[in-house]
Amino acid sequence: MTDLLFSEFKLGRITLKNRVVMAPMTRSRAIGNVPGDLIATYYAQRADAGLLITEGTSPSPDGLGYARIPGLFDDAQQAGWKKVTDAVHAAGGHIFVQLMHTGRVGHEANLPAGARVLAPSALAAPGEMYTDAKGMQPHPVPVAMTEADIEKAISEYVSSSQRAIAAGFDGVELHGANGYLIEQFLNVASNQRTDRWGGSVEGRVRFAVEIARRVTAAIGADRVGLRLSPAGGPGGMVADGDTEAVYLQLMKELRTLGLVYVHVVDHSSMGAPKPSSSLLRGMREAFGGTFIVAGNFDAARAEAALDGKYGDLVAFGRPFIGNPDLVTKLKTGGELRAPDFKSFYTPGPEGYTDYPRG
Ligand SMILES: Cc1cc2nc3c(=O)[nH]c(=O)nc-3n(C[C@H](O)[C@H](O)[C@H](O)COP(=O)(O)O)c2cc1C
Repeated sequence: MTDLLFSEFKLGRITLKNRVVMAPMTRSRAIGNVPGDLIATYYAQRADAGLLITEGTSPSPDGLGYARIPGLFDDAQQAGWKKVTDAVHAAGGHIFVQLMHTGRVGHEANLPAGARVLAPSALAAPGEMYTDAKGMQPHPVPVAMTEADIEKAISEYVSSSQRAIAAGFDGVELHGANGYLIEQFLNVASNQRTDRWGGSVEGRVRFAVEIARRVTAAIGADRVGLRLSPAGGPGGMVADGDTEAVYLQLMKELRTLGLVYVHVVDHSSMGAPKPSSSLLRGMREAFGGTFIVAGNFDAARAEAALDGKYGDLVAFGRPFIGNPDLVTKLKTGGELRAPDFKSFYTPGPEGYTDYPRG
């Protein structure tokens, strides 16, 4: 045990005080899709982490598929996020915003007027989703994106990233995991296009690469990361014969762009398939830059992952919900408080900002 977890790490322009990352977690407290003081308090409480990654935040009205998730595409949202970054920086932390366009994992009842449920192909995600207005609803058949829709979505990622920097974020994480829009392009279950945005390995990675290319050109590669879940799972994502080639090709492209990190999740503890260790090793080698690993870590497993060079940083999700002082508890072996999952997605401070330290 070498205590690598509590050592500093240089990530692009910033130096993290430890290698503990707070994983992005949707908490559905952004009334009107605008982050407020409550959200600033929540993140500032957890600023002991070397890096905080926010909940999925939409770069577009079309990407606000879930109830009460925040956006980052207008002035009010930008001003709300400025309060969050100020609070986190005042508490000595660093914070990236996760840009999540929900794509086909959305519902008209959650979207603002005029917004659309979009996807690479007109194929509905399996199952149902929650809406505030109508309760549980089947996933709708999305509108298959035209060239113009694709260009618009890419430019929304760019302008949202520029707003992120203006709002004081240390960087952005592009959400390419968990079945949302970027993964919908990577995956055959949701992408059956025959044009340059699908089909071949190069076609399937093109949307992710174009977003990464344009966003890095706008705000600097040293402030852009990407999250991936190569084993699929949520949102009906499936592996096929080209999956490994898709992720390895994507790593090659991101290496050329010089992205500041790749963040890979293993959600097998939540019922998703387990990514193969040979693919993860291959991705790490092909990318060659900073790797964040996530999924069911505790202090011992995190140290082992760092020691074994599976990753450079370790993200913790659920343990941060009930333990704002998680870093201290990881260090001292303090007992972790179990989170109350009934309040994961409910509005208000209960089960959100009311977990004490200690
Ligand atoms: C309440 C909740 C919300 C989540 N929301 C997001 C999200 O917005 N974006 C994302 O990439 N992952 C999301 N995740 C996945 C987590 O980032 C993390 O990968 C997962 O919880 C596994 O890590 P853990 O075992 O440490 O909790 C969410 C998880 C939970 C429990």
